[in-house]
Amino acid sequence: MRTEDVERVRRSHAEIDDPHGFAMRFYDVLFRVQPELRRLFPAPIDAQAAKFAGMLAAVVTQLDAPFALEADIAALGRRHVDYGVGEADYDAVGAALLIALHETLGEVFTPSVEQAWAAVYGEMAEAMIAAGAHAAVE
Ligand code: HEM
Repeated sequence: MRTEDVERVRRSHAEIDDPHGFAMRFYDVLFRVQPELRRLFPAPIDAQAAKFAGMLAAVVTQLDAPFALEADIAALGRRHVDYGVGEADYDAVGAALLIALHETLGEVFTPSVEQAWAAVYGEMAEAMIAAGAHAAVE
């Protein structure tokens, strides 16, 4: 993770006034873009949105200490296999995250900020997928 990307993600994340509202918007976008993923989640999405916002905040806080969350992210990846999440679903979630960030941040979401978020999400998704694939062959 490049230092300038860490700064871009941190600064733009701090501009999200209402993290829970942001997470709700993220799920709105996700289910609009990929309606077939809705069935994987419980009917009321509030509790899930709170967990997602919490995880995102934890990751943003730990961006310059990538190993701090490594075990948590691997365990999260393994749990996602049990939730029925496939590798391709990570692309849909990543795309929804970028759209929700764009809608929330407006002009703060410059191309370099977008690229920084894509890098953070990509690294996290890769770690979760790798941990899930590893668990599957055990
Ligand atoms: C970097 C990517 C992701 C992060 C940080 C993330 C985060 C979380 C967190 C924190 C939970 C709460 C439960 C737990 O800790 O095990 C969760 C649950 C869940 N996530 Fe994710 N997730 C990610 C990617 C995805 C993707 C790609 C999907 C595919 C649709 C997905 C679908 C789900 C589902 C279905 C649940 C369980 C809902 C339930 O039954 O309560 N997640 N996720």
